[in-house]
This record gives sequence, C-alpha cells and structure tokens, in this order.
Amino acid sequence: MASPSQPRPIRIGLIGCGEIAQVAHIPTLNFLSTKFTLTYLCDINPKALAFCASRCSSASPPKTTQDAKELCASEVVDAVLVCSSDAFHVFHGVYALENGKHVFIEKPLALCKSDIEMLKATESTSKGRVFVGYMRRYASAFLDAVKELGGTEGIQYVKVRDIICPNSIFVNQSGTFPQKFDGISEEDMKAFLKRDEEVTLEALEVDMGLAVTAKRKTMLRLLGGLGSHDLSAMRELLGMPRGVLGARLSPTMWTVLFDYPNFAVTYESGFNSIPLFDASIEIFTENKVVTIKYDTPYVKGLPTTMIVREKAGDGTAYQERVLRSSYEDPYTKQMGEWWECMVHGKEAKTNIDDAALELELFKMILKAVD
Ligand SMILES: NC(=O)c1ccc[n+]([C@@H]2O[C@H](COP(=O)([O-])OP(=O)(O)OC[C@H]3O[C@@H](n4cnc5c(N)ncnc54)[C@H](O)[C@@H]3O)[C@@H](O)[C@H]2O)c1
Repeated sequence: MASPSQPRPIRIGLIGCGEIAQVAHIPTLNFLSTKFTLTYLCDINPKALAFCASRCSSASPPKTTQDAKELCASEVVDAVLVCSSDAFHVFHGVYALENGKHVFIEKPLALCKSDIEMLKATESTSKGRVFVGYMRRYASAFLDAVKELGGTEGIQYVKVRDIICPNSIFVNQSGTFPQKFDGISEEDMKAFLKRDEEVTLEALEVDMGLAVTAKRKTMLRLLGGLGSHDLSAMRELLGMPRGVLGARLSPTMWTVLFDYPNFAVTYESGFNSIPLFDASIEIFTENKVVTIKYDTPYVKGLPTTMIVREKAGDGTAYQERVLRSSYEDPYTKQMGEWWECMVHGKEAKTNIDDAALELELFKMILKAVD
C-alpha cells in the first residue's frame, strides 16, 4: 500500500522481451515489487510478448502491444525500460521522453553521434530523464574500489580484462529458463535490418571516417556489446584516455593499449569456450594493487569482490584483503539507483553525456588499426 514515506510502485512499460528482459530485468522488477510493477510489455514478436507476460508477477497481468509508441503514450506507464535491439534504443528513448517519461535504456545507448544528439535534444524539452544500463558501475565491488582508490593519483598501470565463453553457457545455467522464439514478421525484420545498416554506416563512415568492412561492423557490435561494460567502467575509474598506443582487433580476442597522462591501460577481451567469466579491473599503485572481480551477472547472487594486495606493517609485510560488501547483484543495485533518480530526483551518473564518451572510445579503437 502506498504511503507518503513509501510511494506507490512505479509502473513500468518494458520494450524488448528478449534474453536480458527474461533473465535479468523481469525477475529483478518482480523481486523489487515495492518499488516497481510491470504494467505494459512491447515486442515485435508476439510469442516473446506472451511468454514475458506470463513471467510478470504484477497484481494484474500486464497489457501487451507490438507498437512501442502505444506503450510510451499509455496512462498505465510511468516510466519505460528499453531492452530492444541496439539500433532501436534511441527511437524508443525518444518516444518515452516525448511522453514526459523517465527512461532506462540498456547499453549501448547509441552507436552514432546523430542518435545521441537527437536523444539529448528530446530530453532537454522533456520532464523525463535518461538512465543508461551500465550495471557493472553499480556493483558493490566497483563502488568499493572507487572509494579505496580515492582518485587516479599514484596509478602506475591498469589492466582491464573480460574474456568469457558464449553467454548461452551461463544463460542456460541461470535457472531463469529463458526462451527464444521465431515469429517476427518479414516487414519488421526488413525494418530491423535497414535500421541496423543505417546506424552502422553512420557510425563508421560519418562519425569515424572509416570505410565499412565486415570486420569493422563486427568489432563495432562487440565493442557496443561486451566492450561497453568494461570501457564504461574504465572511464568512470580513470577518465578518458588521451589516445590509443596500439591495438590488435580480432573478433575472437582483441587487445588495446590506452594512453593516459601518467600510465597505460591494457584492455584485453574476447571469447573462448572455457566456461569461465574472467572479468576484472586491476589497478596498480606504488603500495597496493586493487582488483575488482566480476562473475557472470546472468547467475543471480554471484558476488562481485574487491581484492586489495598491499604493503603492511613496517613495509616489509604483505597482506591481502577481500571485500564482498553485498550479495545483491549489479542489476538489482542498478534498478535501486534508477528508482532513487526517479523518486528523489537524484542525477544519474550513467546519463546521455556519459554514454556519448563511449563513442569517442570506439572511434579511438577502430581508428588505431587498418
Ligand atoms: N546490461 C547487460 O548486462 C546486457 C546483457 C545483454 C544484453 N544487453 C542489451 O540489451 C539489449 C537486448 O539484448 P538481448 O540479449 O535481450 O537481445 P534479444 O535479441 O534477445 O532481445 C531483443 C528483443 O527486442 C525485440 N525488438 C527488437 N526491435 C524491436 C522493436 N522495434 N520494437 C519492439 N521490440 C523489438 C526483439 O524482438 C527481441 O525480443 C541489447 O541492446 C543488449 O546490448 C545488456
């Protein structure tokens, strides 16, 4: 029951009933039922829509539609959660903002500058605000490490690693039993392919001045997919690099050496078939090494930890500290933060301006190699 100290749950309209909605967002919102309730779902795929509606534990079954505009305009929707395909994020964000609604948009927010500009212009005339879904930056270990370091002074070297197996291996063991469905109409599929092509062209040719090649397209997709988690965490911890000293980009494994004023950062990422989520950020300073360790977010409750290896005692002793300050998973932490932003007017750190910097990084990386 709503009360002045406990406002009524925010009514969420969700666009995109695919894997991340099924594995993470719908379960998380169901658990956070005092803060959120799912009232409306949208997907161009009617089977995915029906399946996701059956997964919502809202007091009344959510309404469903194949038209994102209809959802955004609905009176039973206070805020919109966008987890559709990358190329549609900005369109869906614009519809929400045009209706004066707050909107959470999954990463990557956008892949080209003109999309970012369109969203920013719409936000400037809307009551709604954009919150970008970079959940690793809301993980407890990440926040602990930000505190532990207290800034970038004294950093000598940083290693950002994200080498994982195909997501399906984790998803299939997540205990959430998601389903994939065929059934998108030919017309919707054509519209999807056209929009995807347009955005890729705009990103590579217009924004970066690069010819479109199959490899660049794949790398752009990978940087917007797995890469944006690591690169956005790197940006929050360290700020933007001055440039790229070297890179080797292969769609299975890629390595980039970033140049910061007083140190370098190695970013190594890719895929193999070992069922392991090897993701961490390791920050080296004179007296201690701080490591943020992530496990797969698809399995709820796996902790993120901060490990500090450091000098102790008179300086000849060594100690290790492991801090797991919460078992609450990053998706839950992130949703809690979005709620704070909407209810208490808190400014989101993962906003449009922040996400726009991602495109600068993608450009630096892709321009560093032929
Ligand atoms: N934060 C994370 O950890 C994380 C993890 C995975 C995916 N993601 C992001 O979430 C988004 C979705 O990823 P996914 O793995 O669930 O993909 P998916 O392909 O499984 O799901 C996307 C869904 O959106 C629907 N859709 C596409 N275009 C639409 C439109 N115009 N209108 C309505 N529905 C539309 C599709 O039919 C599909 O059901 C991607 O942008 C991805 O980058 C984030």
